[in-house]
Amino acid sequence: MRRVVVTGIGAVTPLGVGIRRTWQRLIDGNCGIISTKDRSPQFAVLPSQVAAVVPVGGRKDGKWNAKEWVAVGDERKMARFAQYAQVAAEEALNDAEWHPKTQEHLESTGVYIGSGIGSLDDAYDTAIAYEKGGYKKVSPLFVPRLLINLAAGHISMKYGFQGPNHASTTACTTGAHALGDAARFIAFGDADVMVAGGAESCIHPLAIAGFARSRSLSTNWNDQPELSSRPFDRDRAGFVIGEGAAVVILEELEHAKARGARIYAELAGYGISADAHHMTAPREDGYGPFLSMKHALKHAGLPPRSVQYVNAHATSTPLGDAAENQAIKNLLLGESGHEKATDLNISSTKGAIGHLLGAAGSIEAIFCILAIHEGILPPTLNLENPGHPPKDFNCNYVPKVAQEKTVDVAISNSFGFGGTNASLCFAKYQ
Ligand SMILES: *[C@@H]1O[C@H](CO)[C@@H](O)[C@H](O)[C@H]1NC(C)=O
Ligand SMILES: *[C@@H]1O[C@H](CO)[C@@H](O)[C@H](O)[C@H]1NC(C)=O
Repeated sequence: MRRVVVTGIGAVTPLGVGIRRTWQRLIDGNCGIISTKDRSPQFAVLPSQVAAVVPVGGRKDGKWNAKEWVAVGDERKMARFAQYAQVAAEEALNDAEWHPKTQEHLESTGVYIGSGIGSLDDAYDTAIAYEKGGYKKVSPLFVPRLLINLAAGHISMKYGFQGPNHASTTACTTGAHALGDAARFIAFGDADVMVAGGAESCIHPLAIAGFARSRSLSTNWNDQPELSSRPFDRDRAGFVIGEGAAVVILEELEHAKARGARIYAELAGYGISADAHHMTAPREDGYGPFLSMKHALKHAGLPPRSVQYVNAHATSTPLGDAAENQAIKNLLLGESGHEKATDLNISSTKGAIGHLLGAAGSIEAIFCILAIHEGILPPTLNLENPGHPPKDFNCNYVPKVAQEKTVDVAISNSFGFGGTNASLCFAKYQ
Protein backbone atom coordinates (compact mmCIF):
# COMPACT_ATOMS: atom_id res chain seq x y z
CA MET A 1 0.00 0.00 0.00
CA ARG A 2 1.20 3.51 -0.79
CA ARG A 3 1.65 5.70 2.29
CA VAL A 4 -0.45 8.85 2.76
CA VAL A 5 0.64 12.04 4.53
CA VAL A 6 -0.96 15.37 5.35
CA THR A 7 0.69 18.36 3.68
CA GLY A 8 -1.91 21.13 4.07
CA ILE A 9 -4.75 22.17 6.39
CA GLY A 10 -7.53 24.74 6.26
CA ALA A 11 -10.68 25.53 8.25
CA VAL A 12 -13.66 27.78 8.85
CA THR A 13 -14.95 27.25 12.39
CA PRO A 14 -16.91 28.87 15.22
CA LEU A 15 -13.55 30.10 16.51
CA GLY A 16 -12.88 32.01 13.28
CA VAL A 17 -11.95 31.75 9.63
CA GLY A 18 -8.56 30.09 9.18
CA ILE A 19 -6.96 27.12 10.90
CA ARG A 20 -4.17 29.06 12.68
CA ARG A 21 -6.67 31.42 14.22
CA THR A 22 -8.92 28.51 15.19
CA TRP A 23 -6.06 26.54 16.76
CA GLN A 24 -4.66 29.50 18.68
CA ARG A 25 -8.06 30.38 20.08
CA LEU A 26 -8.73 26.72 20.90
CA ILE A 27 -5.55 26.24 22.90
CA ASP A 28 -6.11 29.62 24.59
CA GLY A 29 -9.39 28.20 25.93
CA ASN A 30 -11.85 30.30 23.90
CA CYS A 31 -15.37 29.11 23.14
CA GLY A 32 -17.31 29.70 19.91
CA ILE A 33 -20.78 28.96 21.27
CA ILE A 34 -23.33 31.79 21.37
CA SER A 35 -27.03 32.34 22.08
CA THR A 36 -29.45 31.96 19.15
CA LYS A 37 -32.45 33.30 21.05
CA ASP A 38 -32.50 36.70 19.33
CA ARG A 39 -31.98 35.44 15.79
CA SER A 40 -35.73 35.16 15.09
CA PRO A 41 -38.97 34.29 16.89
CA GLN A 42 -38.63 30.73 15.57
CA PHE A 43 -35.30 30.33 17.35
CA ALA A 44 -36.68 31.87 20.54
CA VAL A 45 -39.23 29.11 21.13
CA LEU A 46 -36.84 26.17 20.68
CA PRO A 47 -35.77 24.14 23.72
CA SER A 48 -32.10 24.55 22.73
CA GLN A 49 -31.06 28.19 22.17
CA VAL A 50 -27.33 27.85 21.74
CA ALA A 51 -25.17 27.15 18.70
CA ALA A 52 -21.55 27.24 17.61
CA VAL A 53 -21.65 29.73 14.77
CA VAL A 54 -18.90 30.95 12.44
CA PRO A 55 -18.38 34.56 13.64
CA VAL A 56 -19.70 37.15 11.23
CA GLY A 57 -17.55 40.19 10.46
CA GLY A 58 -14.62 41.45 8.46
CA ARG A 59 -12.07 39.22 6.77
CA LYS A 60 -9.21 41.13 8.39
CA ASP A 61 -10.54 40.08 11.81
CA GLY A 62 -10.70 36.43 10.77
CA LYS A 63 -14.48 36.53 10.53
CA TRP A 64 -16.99 35.59 7.86
CA ASN A 65 -18.45 37.92 5.29
CA ALA A 66 -19.20 35.90 2.15
CA LYS A 67 -18.58 38.94 -0.04
CA GLU A 68 -14.98 39.14 1.15
CA TRP A 69 -14.24 35.42 0.88
CA VAL A 70 -16.17 34.12 -2.12
CA ALA A 71 -16.35 35.40 -5.73
CA VAL A 72 -19.56 37.26 -6.60
CA GLY A 73 -21.02 34.60 -8.92
CA ASP A 74 -20.04 31.78 -6.56
CA GLU A 75 -21.93 33.28 -3.66
CA ARG A 76 -25.16 32.90 -5.64
CA LYS A 77 -24.35 29.47 -7.02
CA MET A 78 -23.09 27.90 -3.82
CA ALA A 79 -24.89 27.16 -0.57
CA ARG A 80 -23.12 28.26 2.60
CA PHE A 81 -21.71 24.82 3.48
CA ALA A 82 -20.07 24.72 0.04
CA GLN A 83 -18.72 28.26 0.46
CA TYR A 84 -17.11 27.26 3.76
CA ALA A 85 -15.64 24.20 2.06
CA GLN A 86 -14.22 26.28 -0.76
CA VAL A 87 -12.55 28.74 1.61
CA ALA A 88 -11.11 25.92 3.75
CA ALA A 89 -9.85 24.15 0.61
CA GLU A 90 -8.17 27.30 -0.66
CA GLU A 91 -6.37 27.75 2.65
CA ALA A 92 -5.28 24.09 2.66
CA LEU A 93 -4.00 24.21 -0.92
CA ASN A 94 -2.02 27.39 -0.20
CA ASP A 95 -0.69 25.82 2.98
CA ALA A 96 0.45 22.76 1.01
CA GLU A 97 1.80 24.96 -1.77
CA TRP A 98 0.08 22.64 -4.23
CA HIS A 99 -0.90 24.64 -7.31
CA PRO A 100 -0.81 22.10 -10.14
CA LYS A 101 -0.91 23.33 -13.73
CA THR A 102 0.13 20.35 -15.87
CA GLN A 103 -2.50 17.95 -17.19
CA GLU A 104 -0.78 15.06 -15.44
CA HIS A 105 -0.94 16.79 -12.05
CA LEU A 106 -4.51 17.96 -12.54
CA GLU A 107 -5.59 14.42 -13.35
CA SER A 108 -3.88 12.99 -10.29
CA THR A 109 -5.52 15.48 -7.90
CA GLY A 110 -9.01 14.70 -6.59
CA VAL A 111 -11.57 16.19 -4.21
CA TYR A 112 -13.62 14.46 -1.52
CA ILE A 113 -15.86 16.74 0.57
CA GLY A 114 -18.80 15.43 2.57
CA SER A 115 -21.67 17.06 4.42
CA GLY A 116 -24.14 15.54 6.84
CA ILE A 117 -27.18 17.60 5.95
CA GLY A 118 -26.27 19.99 3.13
CA SER A 119 -28.33 23.08 2.50
CA LEU A 120 -31.38 22.81 4.71
CA ASP A 121 -31.96 26.56 4.20
CA ASP A 122 -32.45 26.05 0.46
CA ALA A 123 -34.73 23.06 0.94
CA TYR A 124 -36.84 24.94 3.49
CA ASP A 125 -37.07 28.27 1.64
CA THR A 126 -37.82 26.60 -1.68
CA ALA A 127 -40.50 24.35 -0.18
CA ILE A 128 -42.27 27.43 1.20
CA ALA A 129 -41.87 29.43 -2.03
CA TYR A 130 -43.18 26.48 -4.05
CA GLU A 131 -46.15 25.96 -1.76
CA LYS A 132 -47.08 29.64 -2.08
CA GLY A 133 -46.13 30.48 -5.65
CA GLY A 134 -45.73 27.20 -7.55
CA TYR A 135 -43.28 26.19 -10.28
CA LYS A 136 -42.15 29.69 -11.22
CA LYS A 137 -40.84 30.30 -7.70
CA VAL A 138 -38.28 27.49 -7.91
CA SER A 139 -34.81 28.90 -8.62
CA PRO A 140 -32.76 27.30 -11.39
CA LEU A 141 -29.97 27.22 -8.78
CA PHE A 142 -32.07 25.25 -6.28
CA VAL A 143 -30.75 21.80 -7.18
CA PRO A 144 -27.06 22.76 -7.57
CA ARG A 145 -27.19 24.56 -4.20
CA LEU A 146 -28.97 21.65 -2.53
CA LEU A 147 -26.79 18.74 -3.64
CA ILE A 148 -24.12 17.71 -1.17
CA ASN A 149 -21.50 16.66 -3.74
CA LEU A 150 -21.51 20.15 -5.25
CA ALA A 151 -19.01 21.30 -2.60
CA ALA A 152 -16.49 18.90 -4.13
CA GLY A 153 -17.75 19.76 -7.62
CA HIS A 154 -17.14 23.50 -7.19
CA ILE A 155 -13.63 22.96 -5.84
CA SER A 156 -12.74 20.72 -8.79
CA MET A 157 -14.10 23.34 -11.22
CA LYS A 158 -12.25 26.20 -9.56
CA TYR A 159 -8.86 24.49 -9.81
CA GLY A 160 -9.37 22.07 -12.71
CA PHE A 161 -8.77 18.96 -10.56
CA GLN A 162 -9.77 15.96 -12.66
CA GLY A 163 -9.01 13.13 -10.23
CA PRO A 164 -11.63 11.30 -8.12
CA ASN A 165 -14.55 13.53 -7.12
CA HIS A 166 -16.63 12.21 -4.24
CA ALA A 167 -18.77 13.06 -1.22
CA SER A 168 -19.73 11.08 1.87
CA THR A 169 -22.88 11.73 3.86
CA THR A 170 -22.83 9.59 6.96
CA ALA A 171 -24.24 11.97 9.56
CA CYS A 172 -21.63 12.95 12.14
CA THR A 173 -19.08 10.47 10.82
CA THR A 174 -18.98 12.21 7.42
CA GLY A 175 -15.78 14.21 7.93
CA ALA A 176 -13.82 11.21 9.16
CA HIS A 177 -15.09 9.00 6.34
CA ALA A 178 -14.08 11.68 3.83
CA LEU A 179 -10.47 11.67 5.02
CA GLY A 180 -10.28 7.91 5.40
CA ASP A 181 -11.85 7.11 2.03
CA ALA A 182 -9.78 9.75 0.24
CA ALA A 183 -6.61 8.27 1.74
CA ARG A 184 -7.64 4.90 0.36
CA PHE A 185 -7.93 6.42 -3.12
CA ILE A 186 -4.32 7.53 -2.80
CA ALA A 187 -3.14 4.25 -1.30
CA PHE A 188 -4.80 2.36 -4.15
CA GLY A 189 -3.33 4.63 -6.83
CA ASP A 190 -6.44 6.47 -8.01
CA ALA A 191 -4.87 9.80 -7.07
CA ASP A 192 -1.61 11.26 -5.75
CA VAL A 193 -3.22 14.21 -3.98
CA MET A 194 -6.70 14.51 -2.46
CA VAL A 195 -8.40 17.64 -1.15
CA ALA A 196 -10.49 16.04 1.60
CA GLY A 197 -12.82 17.19 4.34
CA GLY A 198 -16.30 17.96 5.55
CA ALA A 199 -18.56 21.01 5.62
CA GLU A 200 -21.79 21.86 7.39
CA SER A 201 -24.04 24.84 7.83
CA CYS A 202 -27.52 24.16 9.11
CA ILE A 203 -27.98 26.51 12.06
CA HIS A 204 -31.64 26.63 11.12
CA PRO A 205 -34.64 26.46 13.47
CA LEU A 206 -35.88 23.36 11.68
CA ALA A 207 -32.57 21.54 12.17
CA ILE A 208 -32.48 22.50 15.84
CA ALA A 209 -36.12 21.46 16.22
CA GLY A 210 -35.32 18.08 14.66
CA PHE A 211 -32.30 17.35 16.83
CA ALA A 212 -34.16 18.61 19.89
CA ARG A 213 -37.00 16.20 19.10
CA SER A 214 -34.51 13.36 18.95
CA ARG A 215 -33.51 14.57 22.45
CA SER A 216 -29.86 15.05 21.54
CA LEU A 217 -29.36 18.76 22.24
CA SER A 218 -28.15 20.71 25.23
CA THR A 219 -31.09 22.61 26.73
CA ASN A 220 -29.90 23.35 30.28
CA TRP A 221 -27.54 26.25 29.59
CA ASN A 222 -29.49 28.57 27.28
CA ASP A 223 -28.51 31.64 29.30
CA GLN A 224 -24.85 30.65 29.55
CA PRO A 225 -23.99 29.49 26.03
CA GLU A 226 -20.28 29.08 26.77
CA LEU A 227 -21.07 26.48 29.44
CA SER A 228 -23.50 24.45 27.33
CA SER A 229 -21.11 21.97 25.71
CA ARG A 230 -19.34 20.05 28.49
CA PRO A 231 -17.97 16.73 27.28
CA PHE A 232 -17.20 14.16 30.01
CA ASP A 233 -18.57 16.49 32.71
CA ARG A 234 -21.12 15.00 35.10
CA ASP A 235 -23.57 17.81 34.23
CA ARG A 236 -23.37 17.27 30.45
CA ALA A 237 -26.83 17.18 28.94
CA GLY A 238 -26.67 17.07 25.15
CA PHE A 239 -24.69 18.41 22.22
CA VAL A 240 -24.55 21.92 20.78
CA ILE A 241 -25.13 22.23 17.05
CA GLY A 242 -22.25 23.84 15.15
CA GLU A 243 -21.19 24.83 11.65
CA GLY A 244 -18.01 25.17 9.63
CA ALA A 245 -15.68 23.30 7.33
CA ALA A 246 -12.28 21.67 7.55
CA VAL A 247 -10.14 20.45 4.67
CA VAL A 248 -6.80 18.67 4.53
CA ILE A 249 -4.46 18.00 1.64
CA LEU A 250 -3.63 14.29 1.63
CA GLU A 251 -0.68 13.26 -0.47
CA GLU A 252 1.19 10.13 -1.40
CA LEU A 253 4.41 10.09 0.65
CA GLU A 254 6.94 9.92 -2.22
CA HIS A 255 5.04 12.58 -4.12
CA ALA A 256 5.22 14.89 -1.11
CA LYS A 257 8.91 14.17 -0.55
CA ALA A 258 9.79 14.69 -4.21
CA ARG A 259 8.43 18.22 -4.17
CA GLY A 260 9.84 19.04 -0.75
CA ALA A 261 6.42 19.52 0.86
CA ARG A 262 6.08 20.06 4.62
CA ILE A 263 4.69 16.89 6.15
CA TYR A 264 2.46 17.44 9.19
CA ALA A 265 1.75 13.78 9.92
CA GLU A 266 1.01 10.45 8.31
CA LEU A 267 -2.54 9.18 8.06
CA ALA A 268 -1.47 5.77 9.28
CA GLY A 269 -4.76 4.00 9.94
CA TYR A 270 -8.48 4.13 9.26
CA GLY A 271 -11.01 1.93 11.02
CA ILE A 272 -14.70 1.72 10.23
CA SER A 273 -17.47 -0.21 11.91
CA ALA A 274 -21.12 -0.20 12.90
CA ASP A 275 -22.87 -0.55 16.22
CA ALA A 276 -25.68 -2.52 14.55
CA HIS A 277 -27.76 -1.59 17.55
CA HIS A 278 -30.03 1.49 17.47
CA MET A 279 -30.85 4.53 15.27
CA THR A 280 -29.52 7.13 17.69
CA ALA A 281 -28.38 5.51 20.94
CA PRO A 282 -25.00 3.85 21.48
CA ARG A 283 -24.37 0.40 22.87
CA GLU A 284 -23.45 0.99 26.48
CA ASP A 285 -20.24 -1.00 26.36
CA GLY A 286 -18.99 1.13 23.44
CA TYR A 287 -18.33 -1.92 21.28
CA GLY A 288 -18.77 0.09 18.03
CA PRO A 289 -16.02 2.63 18.71
CA PHE A 290 -13.89 -0.11 20.24
CA LEU A 291 -13.96 -1.89 16.89
CA SER A 292 -13.28 1.21 14.79
CA MET A 293 -10.29 2.23 16.95
CA LYS A 294 -9.00 -1.34 16.92
CA HIS A 295 -9.20 -1.51 13.12
CA ALA A 296 -7.45 1.86 12.77
CA LEU A 297 -4.55 0.65 14.93
CA LYS A 298 -4.39 -2.67 13.10
CA HIS A 299 -4.21 -0.85 9.79
CA ALA A 300 -1.48 1.41 11.19
CA GLY A 301 0.42 -1.59 12.54
CA LEU A 302 0.61 0.04 15.98
CA PRO A 303 -0.14 -1.39 19.46
CA PRO A 304 -2.58 0.37 21.84
CA ARG A 305 0.35 1.48 24.03
CA SER A 306 1.64 3.71 21.21
CA VAL A 307 -1.44 5.97 21.35
CA GLN A 308 -0.63 9.19 23.24
CA TYR A 309 -3.71 11.26 22.47
CA VAL A 310 -7.33 10.59 21.56
CA ASN A 311 -9.51 13.39 20.22
CA ALA A 312 -12.80 11.90 21.32
CA HIS A 313 -16.06 12.18 19.48
CA ALA A 314 -17.66 12.91 22.92
CA THR A 315 -20.47 15.29 22.06
CA SER A 316 -21.50 16.03 25.65
CA THR A 317 -24.38 13.55 25.78
CA PRO A 318 -24.76 11.37 28.90
CA LEU A 319 -24.81 8.02 27.07
CA GLY A 320 -22.45 8.73 24.16
CA ASP A 321 -19.56 10.12 26.23
CA ALA A 322 -19.81 7.26 28.70
CA ALA A 323 -19.82 4.59 25.98
CA GLU A 324 -16.84 6.12 24.21
CA ASN A 325 -14.93 6.54 27.48
CA GLN A 326 -15.50 2.87 28.16
CA ALA A 327 -14.42 1.91 24.64
CA ILE A 328 -11.19 3.91 24.85
CA LYS A 329 -10.31 2.35 28.19
CA ASN A 330 -11.17 -1.15 26.98
CA LEU A 331 -8.85 -0.78 24.02
CA LEU A 332 -5.97 1.31 25.34
CA LEU A 333 -5.48 -0.29 28.78
CA GLY A 334 -4.07 -3.76 29.33
CA GLU A 335 -1.26 -6.02 28.22
CA SER A 336 -0.37 -4.32 24.93
CA GLY A 337 -1.71 -0.98 26.15
CA HIS A 338 -1.09 1.53 28.91
CA GLU A 339 -0.94 0.63 32.60
CA LYS A 340 -3.21 3.18 34.23
CA ALA A 341 -6.28 5.12 33.14
CA THR A 342 -4.55 8.32 34.27
CA ASP A 343 -1.97 7.72 31.51
CA LEU A 344 -4.66 8.01 28.84
CA ASN A 345 -4.77 11.50 27.35
CA ILE A 346 -8.17 12.23 25.87
CA SER A 347 -9.92 15.47 25.06
CA SER A 348 -13.08 16.58 23.33
CA THR A 349 -12.77 19.89 21.52
CA LYS A 350 -16.56 20.07 21.23
CA GLY A 351 -16.61 22.10 24.46
CA ALA A 352 -15.09 24.92 22.40
CA ILE A 353 -16.59 24.48 18.93
CA GLY A 354 -19.73 22.46 19.53
CA HIS A 355 -20.62 19.63 17.19
CA LEU A 356 -19.90 20.46 13.54
CA LEU A 357 -21.91 17.39 12.40
CA GLY A 358 -20.57 16.52 8.93
CA ALA A 359 -17.47 18.67 9.46
CA ALA A 360 -16.70 17.36 12.97
CA GLY A 361 -14.55 14.45 11.83
CA SER A 362 -12.37 16.60 9.61
CA ILE A 363 -11.80 19.50 12.03
CA GLU A 364 -11.07 17.08 14.86
CA ALA A 365 -8.65 15.19 12.60
CA ILE A 366 -6.84 18.49 12.06
CA PHE A 367 -6.67 19.02 15.83
CA CYS A 368 -4.97 15.60 16.11
CA ILE A 369 -2.59 16.53 13.31
CA LEU A 370 -1.69 19.79 15.09
CA ALA A 371 -1.37 18.03 18.46
CA ILE A 372 1.31 15.88 16.80
CA HIS A 373 2.91 18.72 14.87
CA GLU A 374 3.01 21.24 17.73
CA GLY A 375 3.13 19.01 20.81
CA ILE A 376 0.02 20.44 22.43
CA LEU A 377 -3.13 18.68 23.65
CA PRO A 378 -6.17 20.93 23.11
CA PRO A 379 -8.41 21.26 26.18
CA THR A 380 -11.88 19.97 27.04
CA LEU A 381 -13.73 23.12 28.08
CA ASN A 382 -16.20 23.17 30.98
CA LEU A 383 -14.90 19.96 32.50
CA GLU A 384 -15.43 20.66 36.20
CA ASN A 385 -16.32 17.20 37.52
CA PRO A 386 -15.61 14.20 35.29
CA GLY A 387 -18.45 11.71 35.48
CA HIS A 388 -21.00 10.36 35.91
CA PRO A 389 -20.08 8.03 37.67
CA PRO A 390 -16.71 9.61 38.55
CA LYS A 391 -14.91 6.31 39.06
CA ASP A 392 -15.36 5.44 35.38
CA PHE A 393 -14.03 8.81 34.22
CA ASN A 394 -10.52 8.49 35.55
CA CYS A 395 -8.43 9.38 32.48
CA ASN A 396 -6.67 12.67 31.76
CA TYR A 397 -9.29 14.67 29.84
CA VAL A 398 -7.14 17.81 29.57
CA PRO A 399 -9.67 19.84 31.58
CA LYS A 400 -10.03 23.50 30.56
CA VAL A 401 -6.34 24.19 29.91
CA ALA A 402 -4.19 22.90 27.04
CA GLN A 403 -1.26 20.64 27.98
CA GLU A 404 2.17 20.48 26.36
CA LYS A 405 3.09 16.94 25.45
CA THR A 406 5.04 15.26 22.70
CA VAL A 407 2.58 13.25 20.61
CA ASP A 408 3.75 10.66 18.09
CA VAL A 409 0.46 8.83 17.60
CA ALA A 410 -3.08 10.17 17.92
CA ILE A 411 -6.57 8.83 17.22
CA SER A 412 -9.58 10.86 16.14
CA ASN A 413 -13.01 9.28 16.70
CA SER A 414 -16.26 10.11 14.90
CA PHE A 415 -19.63 8.46 15.35
CA GLY A 416 -22.92 9.11 13.65
CA PHE A 417 -26.62 8.40 13.82
CA GLY A 418 -27.35 5.04 12.29
CA GLY A 419 -24.61 3.62 14.50
CA THR A 420 -21.74 4.27 12.13
CA ASN A 421 -18.32 4.61 13.75
CA ALA A 422 -14.96 5.67 12.28
CA SER A 423 -11.50 6.25 13.71
CA LEU A 424 -8.49 7.84 12.06
CA CYS A 425 -4.98 7.19 13.34
CA PHE A 426 -2.31 9.83 12.68
CA ALA A 427 1.39 9.33 13.33
CA LYS A 428 4.38 11.63 13.33
CA TYR A 429 6.22 11.13 10.06
CA GLN A 430 9.79 10.10 10.72
C1 LIG B 1 -21.35 4.54 16.98
O1 LIG B 1 -22.14 5.52 16.36
C2 LIG B 1 -23.45 5.69 16.95
C3 LIG B 1 -24.23 6.78 16.32
O2 LIG B 1 -23.96 8.03 17.03
C4 LIG B 1 -23.42 6.19 18.25
O3 LIG B 1 -24.76 6.17 18.75
C5 LIG B 1 -22.57 5.39 19.09
O4 LIG B 1 -22.17 6.29 20.11
C6 LIG B 1 -21.31 4.89 18.46
N1 LIG B 1 -21.04 3.79 19.29
C7 LIG B 1 -20.86 3.93 20.58
C8 LIG B 1 -21.05 2.68 21.37
O5 LIG B 1 -20.50 4.96 21.11
C1 LIG C 1 -0.32 12.08 29.05
O1 LIG C 1 0.10 13.41 29.24
C2 LIG C 1 0.94 13.62 30.34
C3 LIG C 1 1.30 15.09 30.39
O2 LIG C 1 0.21 15.91 30.19
C4 LIG C 1 2.18 12.77 30.24
O3 LIG C 1 2.93 12.88 31.43
C5 LIG C 1 1.84 11.32 29.96
O4 LIG C 1 3.00 10.60 29.68
C6 LIG C 1 0.88 11.22 28.79
N1 LIG C 1 0.51 9.84 28.52
C7 LIG C 1 0.85 9.21 27.42
C8 LIG C 1 0.38 7.81 27.28
O5 LIG C 1 1.48 9.73 26.51
